[in-house]
Amino acid sequence: MSKYFKAKTVDNISLNKHFRLLNLSPLSDIDIPQPGQFYMLQAGDTYDPLLKRPFSIFRHEDNSLSFLYRIRGKGTLSLSHLKSGDIINAIGPLGNSYPEPHGDFIALAGGIGIASLLHLLAGFKNKAYLFYGARNKEELVMLNEAKAISKESFITTDDGSEGEKGLITDSLMKFFNSLPITHYPLPLYACGPTPMLRELSKVVAGKDIKCYVSLEEHMACGVGACLGCVIKTVSGYKRVCKEGPVFDIKYIIWE
Ligand SMILES: Cc1cc2nc3c(=O)[nH]c(=O)nc-3n(C[C@H](O)[C@H](O)[C@H](O)COP(=O)(O)OP(=O)(O)OC[C@H]3O[C@@H](n4cnc5c(N)ncnc54)[C@H](O)[C@@H]3O)c2cc1C
Ligand code: FES
Repeated sequence: MSKYFKAKTVDNISLNKHFRLLNLSPLSDIDIPQPGQFYMLQAGDTYDPLLKRPFSIFRHEDNSLSFLYRIRGKGTLSLSHLKSGDIINAIGPLGNSYPEPHGDFIALAGGIGIASLLHLLAGFKNKAYLFYGARNKEELVMLNEAKAISKESFITTDDGSEGEKGLITDSLMKFFNSLPITHYPLPLYACGPTPMLRELSKVVAGKDIKCYVSLEEHMACGVGACLGCVIKTVSGYKRVCKEGPVFDIKYIIWE
């Protein structure tokens, strides 16, 4: 099946001034996406901006694909202008996916990283200890939806407007300190900004934890051709769009 397809906009719901939920109906058969995979999306046939942008699959139901996105620059702004019936160019599903959890797991989301992890939470309901942090209450998008399908949730904001005031990695550290060592093998899945993931690498260092992180590097082609998304790992340079976006945190060399 071709990964290149056109899709019709079903709706493009504004959740607040920063976030939108885009629901698309592909116009041809598509491969079924797995949690952690992503799509390159471009609004219409316009060449401004020229490049498609990467977005994690947020939800997949029957013949519909949903994406949760934060408006940042030109690409996401043009996505935000899509109306019901508009046609969009897409490529996907791309990249690898989160390894399937067998039993309980930890999901660590920073900001819009929740877009990638919610698909995993939905596939394994009430199995996740959710750690979700953001700058403030407004940035904790889809909080109630995420909590509703998690076993237990821990929330932080930088300004204390929701949950505990502080960093989500500190909350995770406290959780680890409260657990008997036998509980450590719970696998951990994380998606969020690089500083959070770098901090996470310190939290899990020396612990016997399987920890998978989904990286949100800048991308150009999205299909492995341009080397625009390479990262350093213990086994050389890897393309986030092709060998990732999900990596074992212990293989990444943080710079
Ligand atoms: C695999 C993958 C999955 C992603 N999934 C989602 C998702 O589900 N929802 C979502 O909202 N975003 C997601 N992103 C990030 C999204 O691709 C960028 O926000 C988007 O490309 C910005 O495009 P733009 O033209 O609007 O902004 P630009 O004009 O390109 O950039 C505007 C500002 O945003 C910053 N920025 C751009 N790209 C990124 C990035 N990848 N990470 C951090 N900062 C960035 C730029 O440095 C600049 O400051 C994902 C990225 C990757 C690689
Ligand atoms: S974005 Fe081109 S190789 Fe990854």
